[in-house]
Amino acid sequence: MSDAAPLLSVRDLSVGFEGFDGYADVVDGVDLTVEHGEVVTIAGETGCGKSVTTKAITGLLNEPPAHVDGTVEFDGQDLRELPDDERRELNGDRISVIFQNPLSSLNPVFTIGEQLTDTAQFGGDGNTGILGYFRRRFSSTDRSAARERVLELLEEVRMPDPESVMDSYPSELSGGMRQRAIIAQALLNEPDLLIADEPGSALDVTVHDEILSLLEDLIAERDMSILMITHNLGVARRLSDRVYIMYGGRIAETAPTAEIFDAPHHPYTQGLIASIPRLSGESMAGGIGGSVPEYTDPPMGCRFHPRCPYADESCRSSEPADVSFGEQARSACIRHSDGDSGPVPTLQETKRRLSEHEPTPEPAEGNQ
Ligand SMILES: Nc1ncnc2c1ncn2[C@@H]1O[C@H](COP(=O)(O)OP(=O)(O)O)[C@@H](O)[C@H]1O
Ligand SMILES: [Mg+2]
Repeated sequence: MSDAAPLLSVRDLSVGFEGFDGYADVVDGVDLTVEHGEVVTIAGETGCGKSVTTKAITGLLNEPPAHVDGTVEFDGQDLRELPDDERRELNGDRISVIFQNPLSSLNPVFTIGEQLTDTAQFGGDGNTGILGYFRRRFSSTDRSAARERVLELLEEVRMPDPESVMDSYPSELSGGMRQRAIIAQALLNEPDLLIADEPGSALDVTVHDEILSLLEDLIAERDMSILMITHNLGVARRLSDRVYIMYGGRIAETAPTAEIFDAPHHPYTQGLIASIPRLSGESMAGGIGGSVPEYTDPPMGCRFHPRCPYADESCRSSEPADVSFGEQARSACIRHSDGDSGPVPTLQETKRRLSEHEPTPEPAEGNQ
């Protein structure tokens, strides 16, 4: 994209959790960037560590039992080194997050109008203090300007009947309307970076589709960087400029969207693409057999090896390094050799092998 430093740069991010069953080593050495104005997705099956990655980026896992390691740089500042209040301010003003569970992001006891107007007025301003809060909260000019802005945004997210939605409680809205309110809230302070974890995917297919076209339009209209999480490759293809494919807490492959769908290199990416009937031309029974790893005892070497139809002893004994396939594309498979995909053959071949492959050590539990 540009020569400027990325807006978000995550390096060697690792996240684990202390638990009754031992230490869950979930995210392991994730590197990712989001450039200015770029829409990036992290895609992969449920349980691959996508939400944990975003929570670590937004500073939600800063306390035990979670352990976070690595660097998270936003616009040149190391977020993990920032004092809490500065970080909160940044999170409210420059970074907005839409969490995976849409219900938990709205407060049930306040109307949509009250909560969104508060966000418009105060954003990430955690230092207002109680007096400052009341002075501004009850300053009618400040408040009504904020209210106007909320109404404009509700129009922009195509909320039906915004005036009456302002006076409604979250429980009085449909799932789709709540999702629109949450998107409006996330955009109120015109963030530089929007992080959206599976937006709309809890909703039924038609409403999910409406939310996706809304996001498409908002992306086209606004000069905003987006880090989007999805378990749905179709969503990644439709909305993003660049994709990270995540498996078992590691980045398996990344490339610009068109490239990753035209010429996927990693057997996991190939398996995911082969499992989408519309993209592969025909359906494949079962997709990738087996399930995502147990993080208290993850597979040695390549974490995908128990499910990979190409795996041999070397995949069990050593962790694959990234192999670069051009400026923005890399894939981590031991079978790649520099600059070409080595003995990992075509999507067709991977499909054929997957259909015959028995995952080790035990058969599929049907995690997805
Ligand atoms: N707070 C937590 N404590 C312990 N384990 C967690 C916690 N949050 C997530 N995990 C585990 O991390 C793994 C990845 O979860 P998640 O990031 O939610 O996956 P995804 O978003 O890709 O579906 C899962 O096995 C999940 O159980
Ligand atoms: Mg998730």
